[in-house]
Amino acid sequence: VTQNTYLVGGELIPWTGARSKVYSSISSTEEYQPTLLGSIPNLGEKEAIEALDAAVLAYDKGKGLWPTMKVIDRIACMEKFVKQMKTKREEVVKLLMWEIGKNLPDSEKEFDRTVDYIYDTIEDYKQMDRDSAKFEKNAGVNAHIRRGPLGVVLCLGPYNYPLNETFALLIPALIMGNTSVFKPAKLGVLLLSPLLEAFQNSFPKGVVNIIYGRGRTVATPIMKDGRVDVLALIGHSKSANALQNEHPKSNRLRMVLGLEAKNPAIVLKDADLDLAISECIAGATSFNGQRCTALKVLYVHKDIVNEFNIRFSEQVDALKFGNPWDDGAKLTPLPEPDKPAYIQELIDDATRKGAKIINKKGGETTDNYIFPAVLYPVTKDMRVYEEEQFGPVIPVIPFSDIEEPLDDMAESNYGQQVSLFGKDVKTLAPLIDTLVNLVCRVNLNSSCQRGPDVYPFTGRKDSAVATLSVHDALRAFSIRTFVASKDN
Ligand code: G3H
Repeated sequence: VTQNTYLVGGELIPWTGARSKVYSSISSTEEYQPTLLGSIPNLGEKEAIEALDAAVLAYDKGKGLWPTMKVIDRIACMEKFVKQMKTKREEVVKLLMWEIGKNLPDSEKEFDRTVDYIYDTIEDYKQMDRDSAKFEKNAGVNAHIRRGPLGVVLCLGPYNYPLNETFALLIPALIMGNTSVFKPAKLGVLLLSPLLEAFQNSFPKGVVNIIYGRGRTVATPIMKDGRVDVLALIGHSKSANALQNEHPKSNRLRMVLGLEAKNPAIVLKDADLDLAISECIAGATSFNGQRCTALKVLYVHKDIVNEFNIRFSEQVDALKFGNPWDDGAKLTPLPEPDKPAYIQELIDDATRKGAKIINKKGGETTDNYIFPAVLYPVTKDMRVYEEEQFGPVIPVIPFSDIEEPLDDMAESNYGQQVSLFGKDVKTLAPLIDTLVNLVCRVNLNSSCQRGPDVYPFTGRKDSAVATLSVHDALRAFSIRTFVASKDN
């Protein structure tokens, strides 16, 4: 895929300047070498500011065609887009597999889930509109309350869910009447190419502007310019903070952020071990652990930890590694070329400080992969305890008192979700009451996950700013306004 254009002001603008090559970490030759998939424009500051100009003009101080458009017409644009998007399923799914190495079932799920997300957003938006048709009267003041857009949104998506997570920002932002400049992540970027024309012909010009390039070259100048009203980003808090600080009026910038997490599993001594193990495997290894919701540390009660470790390690070793389209491949090539070396660093650090790799295949490397290493016992001085590994390494920590994992969670910089495994309701009930005050979702006898997307997706501390369910995202990208009048 050679992406020769970018979308600004309703035009697909040809680009003949600098380009960046996009590689897949999957080899298509016997001897390993990354496969060249295509290239994207490497836009500069000038083009980035032109994209911002287009979004600002389309918003036009709130009097643009889009922010003033009737709800029914805005919905028609969104429906037109999703209808065209559905025809691109095969192409997009193929690119998802090649670009980020997501296996076929998960790539298909990501596409279908995104389509559902758009339809659900439309339905929720219709309900919001119905609700806003009501008038209120309090103490002689009549009010017509409705939700209005915030302005111009800079939208930056992640590589691990380049479609679902990105669209979960972009779609609600657009439907609420905001305009946007959207820059896809470095990986999972070509899969937007089949959708560019649908964006172009579904929305009025300037409503959605899609640019390519390095964050520092394009996103930083856009923030410095000061005309962005909302920073919508799924990714790392470092990037979010750096971009926020570039904004000359950062205090009034609205932030919608999905950030890091270090979701723990807590396996109590009365847990159903079969269930706990299978859920922990799914939670820690699906998409190679490259999910913000992945289980990134397992706390297991000391009375059952030996049995847990033996059975868990065997089942991790039984996971099949293969290319994304291979039948039953659960572990797939890592899209970031430097990820295997980073994971190896974490393993080396932990083993130097006393942990052991307890599964036979743990740490085995191929050119683009490192097999999940189950590390035990992990202690607080190890990097893998502190850092969000976002890849195939699984730290296990034994505990004797439930206060130990609770203390760690309270001290952690993160607070997204937890998985709790146990049977005794008398123990679980008070524990759940505490856990919901430390994180935002407690998964009882199941692994952590974002979906279904109608449920609130957020986090405490450094894990999130704002909430992103279908319903909440519409609210995150809008503000409650009202027209008041007095009885005369
Ligand atoms: O990377 C974070 C994603 O939102 C995770 O979503 O739990 O559905 O895999 P998921």
